[in-house]
Amino acid sequence: MKFFEIEKSSESKARAGVITTDHGQIQTPIFMPVGTVASVKTVHQRELKEDIKAQIILGNTYHLMLRPTMDIMEQAGGLHKFMNWDRPILTDSGGYQVFSLAKSRKMTEEGVKFKSHIDGSFHFISPEKSMEIQRQIGADIFMAFDECTPYPCEYAQAKTSMELTHRWLKRCIEWTEENKELYGHKQRLFPIVQGSTYSDLRKISAEVISEFGAEGNAIGGLSVGEPEEEMYRITNEVTDILSKEKPRYLMGVGTPWNIIESIGLGVDMMDCVMPTRNARNAMLFTWQGVMNMKNEKWKADFSPLDEFGTSFVDQEYSKAYVRHLFVAKEYLAKQIASIHNLAFYLDLVKVAREHIVAGDFYQWKEQIIPQLKQRL
Ligand code: GUN
Repeated sequence: MKFFEIEKSSESKARAGVITTDHGQIQTPIFMPVGTVASVKTVHQRELKEDIKAQIILGNTYHLMLRPTMDIMEQAGGLHKFMNWDRPILTDSGGYQVFSLAKSRKMTEEGVKFKSHIDGSFHFISPEKSMEIQRQIGADIFMAFDECTPYPCEYAQAKTSMELTHRWLKRCIEWTEENKELYGHKQRLFPIVQGSTYSDLRKISAEVISEFGAEGNAIGGLSVGEPEEEMYRITNEVTDILSKEKPRYLMGVGTPWNIIESIGLGVDMMDCVMPTRNARNAMLFTWQGVMNMKNEKWKADFSPLDEFGTSFVDQEYSKAYVRHLFVAKEYLAKQIASIHNLAFYLDLVKVAREHIVAGDFYQWKEQIIPQLKQRL
């Protein structure tokens, strides 16, 4: 079985495919819930599987190296066993999180020295170290160690940073060729295209990354504050260059409409904290638009939370009840909202896939996006 099989390519760039890993198959395009510290916040693994229908989840090198540490991870036999998740896992490589979370950091050619956001202790992460940790975690798909530039970013800085990412990629590949998997299942390394919002840099990066012939490729450095149109423009330029035969992963994206637009630009995989983080802040995404569950408007609305929702919470609880839980600051509010949002994101990509297969994805996209953006 090939790692990535395209089932249907639409008239333009969107495609429906299947990724096969040793922990099972993933129907693409797919959204991957973020399980940073070996937990998708507030959600049980059983709910992730049965109610949300998650096919793959994310873990983070940065967080897991600090807590529970790789000593515990190896003793557990890897992240799948540790958290009792037997479906595919993808891990991010740590660099991005060091830059967004660590208290202080010092970067050199060798790697990044940083101070833990948890207890202030000092740590060092390099391309080799990131690869070693991701072997110890045992993700089915793991990411190259890169530097993600902020937005806006001067051209010279974006170029220097991109070149460093390319040199680091070479070191990641060399290390993984010399050091095999620990747990008997296959792990695949995805390199990451950088280059900020500069078309010429993105073109160079996509070409350099493609030369490595990895089994999948990622697009990083987007959704960092640039206008949406810039994100779509860069994504489109990069997917024009990256191999059609390999899955393309757009990192850290996004809103429901960002997801649909990106699929239209040839993206196969996406992840974002938005459905879970915004759920904890009472924001629900639905086919009809965005709801703020703290709004007075829902106070006496006893209709189902989301009549078109696919998870049990959508039919079993009312809007008035969930509003009450948020106002009363009950933990259950965050649980219900997280299950709802993740189930919605998984339903969104499933329906998108059905439209790609049916051949009317672009027509559907134009009709659905204004609806998704409505404020209810
Ligand atoms: N998550 C979101 N964007 C990025 C990126 O550019 N690099 C990495 N490693 N992770 C990300």
